[in-house]
Amino acid sequence: MRVIEKIEDVKALIKEQKSMGKTIGLVPTMGYLHQGHASLIEKCSQSNDFSVVSIFVNPIQFGANEDFGTYPRDIERDCGLAQAAGADVIFAPSAEEMYPGGCGTFVEVQGVTEKLCGRSRPGHFRGVTTVVAKLFNIVEPDNAYFGQKDAQQAIVIKKMTRDLNMNVRIITCPIIREEDGLAMSSRNVYLNAEQRAAALVLSRSLFNARDMIQKGERSKHNIIEYLTRSISAERLADIDYISILDATGLEEIPMIEGQVLIAAAVKFGGTRLIDNIMVEV
Ligand code: PAJ
Repeated sequence: MRVIEKIEDVKALIKEQKSMGKTIGLVPTMGYLHQGHASLIEKCSQSNDFSVVSIFVNPIQFGANEDFGTYPRDIERDCGLAQAAGADVIFAPSAEEMYPGGCGTFVEVQGVTEKLCGRSRPGHFRGVTTVVAKLFNIVEPDNAYFGQKDAQQAIVIKKMTRDLNMNVRIITCPIIREEDGLAMSSRNVYLNAEQRAAALVLSRSLFNARDMIQKGERSKHNIIEYLTRSISAERLADIDYISILDATGLEEIPMIEGQVLIAAAVKFGGTRLIDNIMVEV
């Protein structure tokens, strides 16, 4: 498995693969890979002839007071994990390679970016769509893989590809969790032992909410009230948002009906975690 840092080199390699009639899959990541990323890479390599994993901590999707500087990095370990999961090449450009002289052109999706994480992290999705559009132009994948863990991100990317007629199919893959339920995340390493234990309240509460719905609860208000009560009972939890929306387009819904996304963002110490669950009724 090769590690490529230059855009020109990855483009040449893709051109060669395409000329042999190979299908190309892309898994965009910011590195510090875990089993959640591995599940996307495995899916990608099962369904494509040639699989590219990008590793790039994208400066323009972080707010001024966010963790760009401290975001965990371990490229060597990432290479081992990506190769074991079936990656053919890792594309790991520098910030200078991706944004020579800064970034003056942005891709911005409206509407679906204005709620949930978009409200708490202004400019975040503009950074995500810009870098993903660049990666799509560089790698020209037939298929690209995203995790349901970042449910809003996957919806925003799908909208971007539709609105801009991009020739790529977006595949959303299920959330991979630790055995105790915590959704895997590169940011989990920020948690100390006490915060790690406290963070379980997030998945536990979402699972309970799903059980309530499966037992017949249809009131959005009651579910949000339960989640707020359950999560705030944990002393270390500081709720950013708890939302129940239509799972396809993130529209507001009057009650629990159809495919519903229950999404939450909660801070434990300085670490902001997101998690969600989809329910169909
Ligand atoms: P990153 O947080 O590294 O995540 C890369 C991909 O892995 C995303 O599609 C994310 O949803 C998925 N992922 C993360 N944790 C997961 C889990 N526990 N189960 C399943 N999938 C999981 O998301 C980004 O990077 C960036 O915003 C990026 C799209 C690369 C643009 O910079």
